[in-house]
Amino acid sequence: MKRILVTGAGGQIGSWLLPALRQHYGDSNVLATDIRHLGSEITEPGPFQLLDATDAKAVGRAVMRHDADTVYHLAAILSAVGESDPRLAWHVNMASLESVLDVAREQRCAVFTPSSIGVFGPDTPKDRTPQDTLMRPSTIYGVTKVAGELLCDYYHQRFGVDTRGVRYPGLISYGAPPGGGTTDWAVDIFHQAVARGHYTCFLAPDSQLDMMYMPDAVSAAMGIMEADSTNFVHRNAFNVTAMQLAPEALAAEIRKHLPEFTIDYDIDPVRQSIAESWPDRVDDSAAREQWGWEPAFDVATTTRAMLEQLREE
Ligand code: NAD
Ligand code: SER
Repeated sequence: MKRILVTGAGGQIGSWLLPALRQHYGDSNVLATDIRHLGSEITEPGPFQLLDATDAKAVGRAVMRHDADTVYHLAAILSAVGESDPRLAWHVNMASLESVLDVAREQRCAVFTPSSIGVFGPDTPKDRTPQDTLMRPSTIYGVTKVAGELLCDYYHQRFGVDTRGVRYPGLISYGAPPGGGTTDWAVDIFHQAVARGHYTCFLAPDSQLDMMYMPDAVSAAMGIMEADSTNFVHRNAFNVTAMQLAPEALAAEIRKHLPEFTIDYDIDPVRQSIAESWPDRVDDSAAREQWGWEPAFDVATTTRAMLEQLREE
């Protein structure tokens, strides 16, 4: 049975990944860590420890005490928050990854690190963006994600660390709120649709981006970590996607369930320019071919699941 440590476990992904890991590997085998105290609804019934992932010595002690053989490294600063404090984004994203990789090298752990569609930039082909293509991002977030992918590849090639990752698109979920990204509108819209019947969107009506419902994101993380790596041509990190959404298209889908729902637009130039620098649709055939990636949710099933859950709440 694997022994797993999760950094940044209280965030949007961690709050879904943690219960899935515990269900699969056993509660006591999965140590949740975060820089802040988390509610018992996230941490229990397994162990939790406060941990700053940029502190390599503390990460090393936590991995040793838990006898971890795998780290899911989720601690990071996302794209919009990153633009408001680029130094913080560079520090958290790079120092935490460096400390996790060094500990993994010393203590022989496998490492999952999410990358992002944020690795792509204005010069990248926008439609069916290839796995291997031009990556010159215009955000500090994207710079850290490109550097992170290269660092993970380097630790694999130079030191034999089993590093794996995916380039997540925007992730849609309920529960823990998104952490300050450009794709947060695709979560906020559902909350506002149910609470107020109206949403004011910070991106333009036709700003199309790749998206994914969180159960598919969890299945991508666990799927790639369980995959037989002998078929890998890539490893850090695979394009993965499930659907392509623009605000006006998602609003139309929501109106199938809530006919009175309305949307208007108050565009945030920072997040709009980030969205315009990212692909309209990535090509995830490398992930499908090399480890059997396949999403289960499309826009219709995601919309139904989100609205059902939020109406219940
Ligand atoms: P989030 O912002 O929701 O959560 C990040 C967590 O990290 C928070 O709980 C925060 O307290 C914690 N954290 C911050 N600094 C820390 C530190 N120094 N040490 C320990 N913990 C710290 O982020 P998320 O959406 O869960 O994203 C997780 C990973 O997935 C990130 O690498 C992110 O770039 C990537 N990703 C997310 C999305 C998305 O749409 N959510 C898309 C693509 C990639
Ligand atoms: N959802 C993330 C963001 O917008 C993409 O990595 O920052």
